[in-house]
Amino acid sequence: MRKPFIGGNWKMNTDGKSAVELAKAVAQKCQQLLSKVDVSVCPPFVYLSAVKNALGSSGIGLGAQDVYFEAKGAFTGEISCQMLKDVGCKYVIIGHSERRHVIKETDAIINKKLIAAIDAGLLPIFCVGELLEERKAGKTESVVKEQIQKGMAGITAQKAKAITIAYEPVWAIGTGLNATPQQAQEVHLMIRQLIAVMYNKELAEQIIIQYGGSVKADNAAELAGQPDVDGFLVGGASLKADDFAAIVKAAAEKKK
Ligand code: PGA
Repeated sequence: MRKPFIGGNWKMNTDGKSAVELAKAVAQKCQQLLSKVDVSVCPPFVYLSAVKNALGSSGIGLGAQDVYFEAKGAFTGEISCQMLKDVGCKYVIIGHSERRHVIKETDAIINKKLIAAIDAGLLPIFCVGELLEERKAGKTESVVKEQIQKGMAGITAQKAKAITIAYEPVWAIGTGLNATPQQAQEVHLMIRQLIAVMYNKELAEQIIIQYGGSVKADNAAELAGQPDVDGFLVGGASLKADDFAAIVKAAAEKKK
């Protein structure tokens, strides 16, 4: 049985004070649901330590929004996996669409980051998803497949167990246009079947596949009701503790 997993991706938002306040409020509102779901928050790098302190022993996991694949050295501005471990991170988002499309991160870079993160003992949240033109052109399946095949290239089944996949159609991120539950389910099932082919049935059954893209308190329950939707990666709505807690609750009440 897969335990739903909800991540809050705060992106480049909050400041020192509001990050701590948000973390405390999320911990207080979500703590009692942790027997049914896993929850993490991913603040900007500079607030990771402060948020870790604010989360205390709540059981909410700390995640970073990105990482660099080299272990150390002359990589000005980059952050290593070990540094993330050092400040208490359990998770790291890799290959988010804003990094793919704004920062121009390639599948090859994402692959190196996934490998480095797993080797360091971090749990990656590996994001995939098609652009609107790709969906309109009927290329959703081929785009998502290619992202997964290239992103997970060379990663063994044993190591792939560390990965959560987040299906985030780019056209649904921050736009208010969420995928319909049927659209999400269709792609999630395709991803699970692909994992069975690339690896094995057992991993396909176990792997957590989150949906992301304009998840809100009022659409979370229906999306969570889809058999292959195992939780969410939440952007905008993760910045308000009440909204995020309502989404976490909807995932916790997922019908088995
Ligand atoms: P959104 O972002 O919930 O604001 O659409 C989701 C994400 O980018 O992870």
